[in-house]
Amino acid sequence: MKFFLDSAIVDEIAYALDMWDIDGVTTNPRHVQASGKPMLQVIREIGKLVEGTDKTVSVEVNPHYKTVDEFVSEGRKLAAMHPNFVIKLHCIEPAFKAIPILAKDGIRVNVTLVFNAVQALAAMRAGAFYVSPFIGWKEANAEETRSLIEDIVDIRDNYGFGTEVLVAAVRNGRQIADAAVAGADIVTAAHAVYKDAFDHPYTRDGLAKFQEFWDKSKYE
Ligand code: E4P
Repeated sequence: MKFFLDSAIVDEIAYALDMWDIDGVTTNPRHVQASGKPMLQVIREIGKLVEGTDKTVSVEVNPHYKTVDEFVSEGRKLAAMHPNFVIKLHCIEPAFKAIPILAKDGIRVNVTLVFNAVQALAAMRAGAFYVSPFIGWKEANAEETRSLIEDIVDIRDNYGFGTEVLVAAVRNGRQIADAAVAGADIVTAAHAVYKDAFDHPYTRDGLAKFQEFWDKSKYE
């Protein structure tokens, strides 16, 4: 399963590429706002970090857009900026019509803000490159999410769609593991989520104990 970083903070992305060899980046308007930079500037900077690789950067169209024409023209403009950019369209009906139009130009679409399996199915039928169920938002609303991921993966496999299932808004390590067990292709999570997930208090305690034994033993 691929690990994407969910961020528009250039330093965090550079760290995650170097230390964890993350496979891609996802951005959204919240991340861009948190970066403190204008959207086009920050996505250009992120694009430079993945230059010459096949790591994708998902960049989102204006969330006020609601027509096919708006999706297609903004999608074309953003995609022309960098070959690694995948265009995020929010999961509303015009997206399903815009996806095949963009696909004819070789432009890949990540359908974002997906909350049920039928939305995912509609996106896959249209030819989405990624489909992004937001599991953290559902869980914050007391909704179970493991079966949603399993359902989307099963639907994809039943019909042989080429879409990758990108589990988004992942908030902790348990959700990363759940996504992997359910057969998701990708998770995207914040820097702090990976940091926490790669750590365990027993690992730290165990290391301290082993260091103690090590210091009391001879090496040769
Ligand atoms: C990913 O593509 C989504 O934009 C993201 O996971 C949403 O997460 P957030 O709630 O942390 O912004």
